[in-house]
Amino acid sequence: MRDVTIAPALLAWYGRSARVMPWRVGPEERSAGVRPDPYRVWLSEVMLQQTTVAAVRDYFRRFIERWPDVAALAAAEDGEVMAEWAGLGYYARARNLLKCARVVAGEHGGRFPESRDALLTLPGVGPYTAAAVAAIAFDEPATVVDGNVERVVARLFAVETPLPAAKPELTALAARLTPRERPGDFAQAMMDLGATICTPRSPACGICPVRSACAGHAAGTAASLPFKAAKAEKPTRRGVAFVGVREDGAVLVERRPERGLLGGMLGWPGTDWACSEPISTPPAPGTWRMAAGEVRHTFTHFHLRLSVMTARLPLDAAPDRGHFRPRAEFRPADLPTVMRKVHDLASAAMADD
Ligand code: ADE
Repeated sequence: MRDVTIAPALLAWYGRSARVMPWRVGPEERSAGVRPDPYRVWLSEVMLQQTTVAAVRDYFRRFIERWPDVAALAAAEDGEVMAEWAGLGYYARARNLLKCARVVAGEHGGRFPESRDALLTLPGVGPYTAAAVAAIAFDEPATVVDGNVERVVARLFAVETPLPAAKPELTALAARLTPRERPGDFAQAMMDLGATICTPRSPACGICPVRSACAGHAAGTAASLPFKAAKAEKPTRRGVAFVGVREDGAVLVERRPERGLLGGMLGWPGTDWACSEPISTPPAPGTWRMAAGEVRHTFTHFHLRLSVMTARLPLDAAPDRGHFRPRAEFRPADLPTVMRKVHDLASAAMADD
């Protein structure tokens, strides 16, 4: 196996080009002895899974403003945290975030454990997050492998095994690159390289600081790597969502069960989402009308098409499902994206009533 050393060149590049991020201690500050706050590192890494840096910035700022440390987050109400997370997706992350904060506050005296292995015992902390926090917050030479790093490594070593089968091989190769010095900066430098230069399409090899070590570049195959196994087609499911608005403006919402898709999030009463035509029973008696159009949304494993029914309900409406939330306490931004799309379609339809 080729001996590949990229750390010195990559770290020098990171020293010049590190992206500025609200949770990051940059290379200059880091070399002056500033240490990252493990709470911020953990929070940002949980948010960044499956999500881009651009999408996370504002969420991160709002969380830190509201809950500046792990004790504050641990003491937060579930519904408040789920509402702040709304729109980021993959809501199990938010439920686990709270569980983890409560374990750190309650069982670890408010301090995050400092090793990868100890971090792995926390709720919702898997191999990626444990390695990222251990490396970035505590400078443990843990190997941090996300999608960006997989791509960089596949190219550096010209790995032709398609993903996802290539994951163990790419992780082992990434481990060989990880230096004992500045592993936290190295992990972040790998991610920055993947996000800004070693990009999925049209990588900027001309300005890459580790081009001379890159087998993919030498072979002229870098841009086509990593190969990916064909994905199964996603099925389409259908359902109906009911948007009921009381005469005083209160809206009929429902908290979704803790387990399952969008678990713990606020939503609209509705049918199950199934591949066949849904049986639709409205959540309260009334004159329900079908809104023109439909909501489309894609989840990890399926596409969803939702019909939307709307009704104006009397002040004494007694719903079988859900609860009324007063208009002043209802913010569409507290809803997960698919439920916000339902809100928007229903609002347009009801404006024409
Ligand atoms: N993506 C996920 N975590 C990151 C980090 N710490 N720096 C840059 N990009 C990231």
